[in-house]
Amino acid sequence: MPSESRTRVRFAAVGDLHCRKESAGTLRELFVQAAQAADAILLCGDLTDYGLPEEAKVLADELAAVKVPIVAVLGNHDHESGQAARVVEILATAGVRVLDGEACELHGVGIAGTKGFCGGFGRGSLGPWGESAIKVFVNEAIQEALKLESALAKLRTPSRIVMLHYSPIVGTVEGEPVEIFPFLGSSRLEDPLLRHPVTAVVHGHAHRGCLEGLTVNGIPVYNVAKPLLQRTDPQRPGFRVLDIPREA
Ligand SMILES: [Fe+2]
Ligand SMILES: [Fe+2]
Repeated sequence: MPSESRTRVRFAAVGDLHCRKESAGTLRELFVQAAQAADAILLCGDLTDYGLPEEAKVLADELAAVKVPIVAVLGNHDHESGQAARVVEILATAGVRVLDGEACELHGVGIAGTKGFCGGFGRGSLGPWGESAIKVFVNEAIQEALKLESALAKLRTPSRIVMLHYSPIVGTVEGEPVEIFPFLGSSRLEDPLLRHPVTAVVHGHAHRGCLEGLTVNGIPVYNVAKPLLQRTDPQRPGFRVLDIPREA
């Protein structure tokens, strides 16, 4: 654990673990390396493959040896079986703090997290107009943006990390087929990042996206989807280390 006098804190971030029942024994080494390389671990959603409690138990076992703090957000896969609450409960028992529109502080750095949602980017964003099903869909993205806004508003630390599963910008989904961009994130998630000071954003979901991008106000955004990290550099350990100053 860093001393109070330490000026920087390292976070190992990775998303899209897609842990399955047969993943037992395959993620342990990744977490050991992440805990050695950083002061805390950030898991950016799609923690499980089908959102099954059995998968969450396997992941909890894989994380058992980790002694540094672990913070997570859920992804769409973690909702697939309608048992997301049980997944959160199992991970919480294993010491994982799952953020769903909440904030926490680690070693003097604030962390705001929520899953986010899709709907597209910029002028291509879907609007709440027409059929009620469209309005419900768009409202989900609006609610996730509001959750991120309220989480950020609770933080008082000079440095803040935002954790999402879906991307808040188009830049880090580029590389994916353009036809599916609207399902990979939403510019609505970028709005709170323009109103609150944020040091860095991490997200996953776009397995074939781009590693880095910037919000319109210049905040670095990192796509830490594990398949992307590993495909981009097979020598890479499978997570990204953020070196964050405690003072902004
Ligand atoms: Fe994924
Ligand atoms: Fe996903």
